[in-house]
Amino acid sequence: MNQLSTDKPRVLTGITTTGTPHLGNYVGAIKPAIVASQSSEFDSFLFLADYHAMIKSHEPDKIHQSSIEIAATWLALGLDPDNVTFYRQSDVPEIMELSWVLTCWTAKGLMNRAHAYKAAVQANEEANEDPDYAVTMGLFSYPILMAADILMFNGKHIPVGRDQIQHIEMAKDIAQRFNHHYGERFVLPEAVVDDNVAVLQGLDGRKMSKSYNNTIPLFDTEKKLKKAINKIKTNLLEPGEAKDPDDSTVFQIWKAFASEQQTADMRQQFIDGIAWGEAKKCLFELLNKELAEPRERYLEYMANPVAMEKILLAGAEKARAVSIPMLQGVRESIGIRAMTAPT
Ligand code: TRP
Repeated sequence: MNQLSTDKPRVLTGITTTGTPHLGNYVGAIKPAIVASQSSEFDSFLFLADYHAMIKSHEPDKIHQSSIEIAATWLALGLDPDNVTFYRQSDVPEIMELSWVLTCWTAKGLMNRAHAYKAAVQANEEANEDPDYAVTMGLFSYPILMAADILMFNGKHIPVGRDQIQHIEMAKDIAQRFNHHYGERFVLPEAVVDDNVAVLQGLDGRKMSKSYNNTIPLFDTEKKLKKAINKIKTNLLEPGEAKDPDDSTVFQIWKAFASEQQTADMRQQFIDGIAWGEAKKCLFELLNKELAEPRERYLEYMANPVAMEKILLAGAEKARAVSIPMLQGVRESIGIRAMTAPT
């Protein structure tokens, strides 16, 4: 029944439910996480960080839509909910309770040093605004909620992007303080950053990111995929003129999807002067081959929110089999106990 085996180290990661997944998310995060979740060495916990979305967005419809699209994307790409614990953060209320307990163990000075908060303050200063303009307590204490996400499930390996390493260090720091005072309760987490994972370039050659508006959609129609690929910025070299593969976004994306042999072949074609139109056509075909089948499944899930809701609620039940006793233990530790408990 309960598939969780507690002796396996836990891999845990969250996805903030803002935006629609794009090709960069797929290559940089989704694909490696799904591959890792198929390993029998680890217990994988994967969740929709919908309360984190509130830090960035106050638009209910967008948060809702993004949750649906992200769940459909992960399931379509082969995340097996029987094999991992796949849940919505908001379905596990114990996380919010733990977040408060950890708040009482987090030095304000530690939060002052968090990158996201510091960046907001700096932007305000540059704009001659009050340093705290539009900074909510949600943004300020967001690393604490992240610590609660992780420590609640004894997450040990936390796969994240470089920008998140600091938050995992903070979670570890908070866990150590708690453990030191009350006795060992939490496993100390470590960030796992995979240097081999490609950071995909976007249409304009900068990192593919929603904030640069340069993304290639993952599961839009075939036509839109083709259109987006045709928009990738290239130089003015004519067919027959040698092109530098290492200076080309088309080649960078090719490399992220192709086999070693295909990559070597395309490199040679660049040197031999392949036309940009031809290179883009090849890229479209390669991507479409990998995405066509999952695209069908994605559309099926999108048309069937009832099925997704069921999967997520079953995931929450598995998650709460861990979080309820964990929170109970934490409450014992801090002295919130039944009246009848021995003193
Ligand atoms: N803050 C992370 C991000 O923006 C998402 C996240 C929320 C997360 N909670 C987490 C990642 C816990 C790892 C572990 O990418």
